[in-house]
Amino acid sequence: MTSENTTLITGTSSGFGATSTADDVLQGIDLTGKLALVTGGYSGIGLETTRALVKAGAHVVVPARRPAAAEQALADIPGVELDELDLADLESVRRFAERFLASGRTIDIVIDNAAIMASPETRVVDDPDFAEDIDVQVV
Ligand SMILES: NC(=O)c1ccc[n+]([C@@H]2O[C@H](COP(=O)([O-])OP(=O)(O)OC[C@H]3O[C@@H](n4cnc5c(N)ncnc54)[C@H](OP(=O)(O)O)[C@@H]3O)[C@@H](O)[C@H]2O)c1
Repeated sequence: MTSENTTLITGTSSGFGATSTADDVLQGIDLTGKLALVTGGYSGIGLETTRALVKAGAHVVVPARRPAAAEQALADIPGVELDELDLADLESVRRFAERFLASGRTIDIVIDNAAIMASPETRVVDDPDFAEDIDVQVV
């Protein structure tokens, strides 16, 4: 490992570390007027990211494969926009993209947070060439 990689991994140059929170990262940053999209923004790290982005003034769109669960998880965060999206279903991805484009808005911040970890190898529902874990994390 090069010293350049070591710096990246330890994050010493960012000023943030293992105990930093999303609020720490956004302290002093005004995101009023910005649109952020957070995949999986209704659980775990994604939920805290959504909370911090809203607190900083952003309009946050959370596309969820379980909209009812998302609505419940986000109930105490005002103004979050929910939509439907299953990242393991490319047709669902296309439909979401079309809906978003039709709204005429642009995205300022994308947090590709959604993920599946340590799962057996599976493929997305409509394309056998696409591994599900890669699709959910990257698309
Ligand atoms: N937690 C850790 O220690 C850790 C460590 C290293 C990296 N990370 C990374 O940090 C990110 C968040 O981790 P976390 O622990 O907060 O994860 P989490 O609580 O399991 O949340 C993952 C989110 O991804 C969503 N998701 C999964 N498959 C999806 C699909 N096909 N379509 C749409 N959404 C889908 C889940 O939705 P459902 O709830 O509907 O399934 C959930 O909201 C992940 O990228 C993870 O790899 C986490």
